[in-house]
Amino acid sequence: MSDTVPLAGVIGWPIGHSLSPKVHGHWLARYGLAGAYVPLGVREADFEGALAALPNLGFVGANVTMPHKERAFVLADERSAMATRLGAANTLVFDPDKGVVADNTDGFGFIENLREAQPGWHAGAGPVTVLGAGGAARAVIVALLEAGVPELRLLNRTASRAEALRDEIAPEVTVLDWAGAEDALAGAALVVNATSMGMAGGPEMTLDLHEIGPGTIATDIVYARGETPFLSAAKARGARVVDGFGMLLHQARPGFERWFGRAPEVDDALRRAVLG
Ligand code: ATR
Repeated sequence: MSDTVPLAGVIGWPIGHSLSPKVHGHWLARYGLAGAYVPLGVREADFEGALAALPNLGFVGANVTMPHKERAFVLADERSAMATRLGAANTLVFDPDKGVVADNTDGFGFIENLREAQPGWHAGAGPVTVLGAGGAARAVIVALLEAGVPELRLLNRTASRAEALRDEIAPEVTVLDWAGAEDALAGAALVVNATSMGMAGGPEMTLDLHEIGPGTIATDIVYARGETPFLSAAKARGARVVDGFGMLLHQARPGFERWFGRAPEVDDALRRAVLG
């Protein structure tokens, strides 16, 4: 036996609810690979020390989640183009030569989930409307623009936050008025709910969604057990709906491949293992 096996984990606070250990644990077992992936509950004040220590403990990399994504980006030695555009990292590789290499795979996970669930969707299918301008929305917006979406309409309850997002990372976006959501939804090929409305423990979904129709694909980016009110409303209007669970699974693929040397698959066995 060698002295070390490759270790990886997810660093966040709180971390108990993270499904990532189940995702990576399933893949390690399924492919018979040596290694382990663990939850690492690290408070904000301890993050820098933890990051410095992990490579010496046998860690080959880590995922990073709330509240450390921006700090991880700042502390990294190298950054991918996507992480740089977003100013936030979710996947770190500890490279013996380069140091901490930061990437952001949230947008990749979003696009892969959408393509898997709706293979007919393509960037040129028509306007995309994104609701919300928080951290999760940023990755999705950049990924959609990089995929080639020609018109992206952004609405946020707090307009100044949508405008700041546009000015910082996505000048191609059109910011529209939250009160005029109906117009923003009309004719959209894809509508993305990146707000916390309708999430478990979140505020109620209060937007008027009647402009969503049979030609629309509707997706939530955060996974909630059971259908969210947003997806239920969209489905009732004949839209095709895509839940956010697959985004979590697909965003995990690049990290697993880099740390453990095998490109993993997202399939029903994984879905059962993670939800069971
Ligand atoms: P994350 O980083 O996970 O996206 P966040 O930064 O807290 O989380 O963003 C939550 C999103 O949900 C924001 O777009 C927020 O709108 P504001 O920027 O106006 O706060 C949106 N949101 C939360 N509660 C809402 C509500 N009751 N009505 C409309 N939008 C809401």
